[in-house]
Amino acid sequence: MPTALVTGPTAGIGRAFAESLAGRGHDLVLVSRDAARLDSVAETLHGTYGVTCEVLPADLSDAAAVRTVEDRLSDRDRPIDLLVNNAGFSLSTSFLEGDVEGEQSLLNVHVVAVMRLTKAALGGMLERRSGTIVNISSVASFAPYGTYGAAKAWVTSFSEGLAAELLGTGVRVLAVCPGYVRTEFHQRSGVQVRGLPGWMWLQPEDIVAATMRHLDAGRTSPVLIPTMRYRLVALGSRCGPRPIVRKFSHMLRLHRR
Ligand SMILES: NC(=O)c1ccc[n+]([C@@H]2O[C@H](COP(=O)([O-])OP(=O)(O)OC[C@H]3O[C@@H](n4cnc5c(N)ncnc54)[C@H](OP(=O)(O)O)[C@@H]3O)[C@@H](O)[C@H]2O)c1
Repeated sequence: MPTALVTGPTAGIGRAFAESLAGRGHDLVLVSRDAARLDSVAETLHGTYGVTCEVLPADLSDAAAVRTVEDRLSDRDRPIDLLVNNAGFSLSTSFLEGDVEGEQSLLNVHVVAVMRLTKAALGGMLERRSGTIVNISSVASFAPYGTYGAAKAWVTSFSEGLAAELLGTGVRVLAVCPGYVRTEFHQRSGVQVRGLPGWMWLQPEDIVAATMRHLDAGRTSPVLIPTMRYRLVALGSRCGPRPIVRKFSHMLRLHRR
């Protein structure tokens, strides 16, 4: 059975990935902070799909904890075929209001951990000439959106650049850039989203289904933006006049508080 390591599988998009992959017969390694919740997800998925679920509690903002996940990824006796770098959070405060430790923690989880886990997974994948890395980015990666947007811009750009390096190796990498998704994400960070129109909301399962369709079809594009409406949003963010893009992003940030 192939094995997938999913970060942030206890809620939202990561939980939907874990469910989908278990349904496809993947054994799982589940990584996040809440050990009790990890155990509960592992028990449910094992009971429903019969797959093996290993839990690896780790706070990905902590360098020592990240190293334990790197060790698991680079264990040649227990190969990981698919890595989903999904764990993440947002801050409710702007850069001016927030404390620097929160900003550092965000970069540790969204950038440093993604870079280190990707590097750790690639060793064995390149030797086996097979493997997939899915990095959950965001449409925020295409617009100026605080440290969060800048971190996601790194994820998208990093994945795109790495995909070019991986051509012909049998290993692929994909950045997935969702818009607003109904998960615990906004509630956890205290970000205000009540006034957002219904069309802006996606379900975690939409993101997973789009990713699986992309991978199953063997599409080579290293960046996936689920749904046409968000492809248009991303197009506007990337190609629209920068003063308008900056103003719109700023308004959206003000609206969230
Ligand atoms: N929801 C959206 O609108 C949206 C849009 C675009 C992109 N995204 C991205 O999608 C990804 C998943 O977000 P989500 O919406 O599914 O959020 P969510 O429902 O809040 O789930 C976040 C997951 O990440 C884990 N996590 C958070 N901080 C962690 C840390 N320091 N170390 C280890 N695990 C940690 C959480 O588990 P524990 O609490 O157990 O650690 C949880 O399993 C994130 O990268 C996010 O930036 C979300």
